[in-house]
Amino acid sequence: MPAPLKVAVTGAAGNIGYALLFRIASGDVFGKDQPVILQLLEIPPGMKALDGVVMELNDAAFPLLHGIVTADDPNVAFDGAQQVFLVGSRPRGPGMLRSDLVAANGPIFVGQGQAINAKAADDVRVIVVGNPCNSNALIAMNNAPDVPRERFSAMTRLDENRAKSQIAGRVGVTAGQVTNMAIFGNHGPAMFPAFAHAKVAGQAVTDKLPLDYLQGDFIDTVSGRGKAIIDARGASSAASAAAAAIDHMSTWWHGTAPGDFNSMAVVSRGEYGVPEGLIYSFPVTIENGEWTIVEGLEMDAFAKAGLQKNVDELLEERDAVKDLL
Ligand code: NAD
Ligand code: LMR
Repeated sequence: MPAPLKVAVTGAAGNIGYALLFRIASGDVFGKDQPVILQLLEIPPGMKALDGVVMELNDAAFPLLHGIVTADDPNVAFDGAQQVFLVGSRPRGPGMLRSDLVAANGPIFVGQGQAINAKAADDVRVIVVGNPCNSNALIAMNNAPDVPRERFSAMTRLDENRAKSQIAGRVGVTAGQVTNMAIFGNHGPAMFPAFAHAKVAGQAVTDKLPLDYLQGDFIDTVSGRGKAIIDARGASSAASAAAAAIDHMSTWWHGTAPGDFNSMAVVSRGEYGVPEGLIYSFPVTIENGEWTIVEGLEMDAFAKAGLQKNVDELLEERDAVKDLL
C-alpha cells in the first residue's frame, strides 16, 4: 500500500464537509488502495460539531482512514497537506449573488493562501469550493507565491454535471453518456456552458437538441441552478457540491478519460483571449496530475460573447478584491 496521503478539508463541520469527508475516507477520490490522513480545519465555534463528525468518521471504521487531525489553525491543518479542499466560508442565502459573499469570504483566503505557502507539501493541489470560488482561488493563489500557480483551481465541475444532467434528461439518456461538456468562465451568473462541443454517446448535442433551447433555457437552467436549489431547500447545494468536488479532485488525481475533457477553473495564460492571471474555467485534459487547457475549440459569435461576459464579470470581481491580492 502507498503511504497515506495528507488531505486537508476546511469548513469540515459544514454541510458540504459532512457529505464530502466520508467519501474521501472511503476511497472515492484517490482510489480504493490509497490510505488517507484527514486534516480538518474549522473556526472555533465549529470545533464542537467537528468533534461529532470525527466520532462518526471513526465509527464508520474506514480501512483507508489512517488518521484524523482537527485544528482551528490553518498552519496546523495544512502542515504537509498534499490535497486541499477549501470549502469553509459562508454560503449565500435567498436574494444574494455569489459575488455578494466576497467581502465576508475573501479575507479567509488570504490567511489560508499564506498558510498553504508556508506549510503544505511540495506536491500540493488545491480546489476552492467556497464562493465566489474563482475569486477566492485568485486570492489564495496570490497569497502563496512559492506554490506553482497551476496548483490552484476553483470548482465548476458542479456546473458541468448540471449541464450534463439537463442534456441527458432532454435526450432521454443517462448523464454518463454526455461527454465533452465544458464550462467556460466564472462560477457565477455569466458562466458559459459550451454546448456546441458536447456529445451524447459520441454524437453532437447540437444534432439532438434545438439551438433555441441550447442558447436559451439550457444555459439559464444551468447558471440558475444554485439559486433554484437555495429557493427550494432553503440552503445551498451540499451533496451535489461534494460530489462535484470529488469528481474534480479524482480527475486531477487519476486523469481525464481518453477523448473527453472536464471543466476546471485554473489560471489563464491568455487562452481564448482571457486575460493572463485570471482564474477562469476552461476545458482541460489531465495526465500525471498536470492539467492542460484544451485549445482551439471553435467559438461562434454567440460563444465569443458568452466568454467575454465572463471576462468582464471576473475583472469586476478582481477589482473588488484587489486589496487582498
Ligand atoms: P456551511 O455554512 O454549511 O459550512 C461552512 C463551514 O465553514 C462552517 O462549518 C463554518 O464554521 C466553516 N468556516 C467558516 N469560515 C471558516 C474558516 N475561515 N476556516 C475554516 N472553516 C470555516 O456552508 P456549505 O453549505 O458547506 O458551503 C460552503 C461554501 O461552499 C459556501 O461558500 C458555498 O456558497 C460554497 N459552494 C460552492 C459551490 C461551487 O459549485 N463552487 C457549490 C455549493 C456551495
Ligand atoms: C451552487 O451553485 O449551488 C453554489 O454555488 C451555491 C450557490 O450559492 O449557488
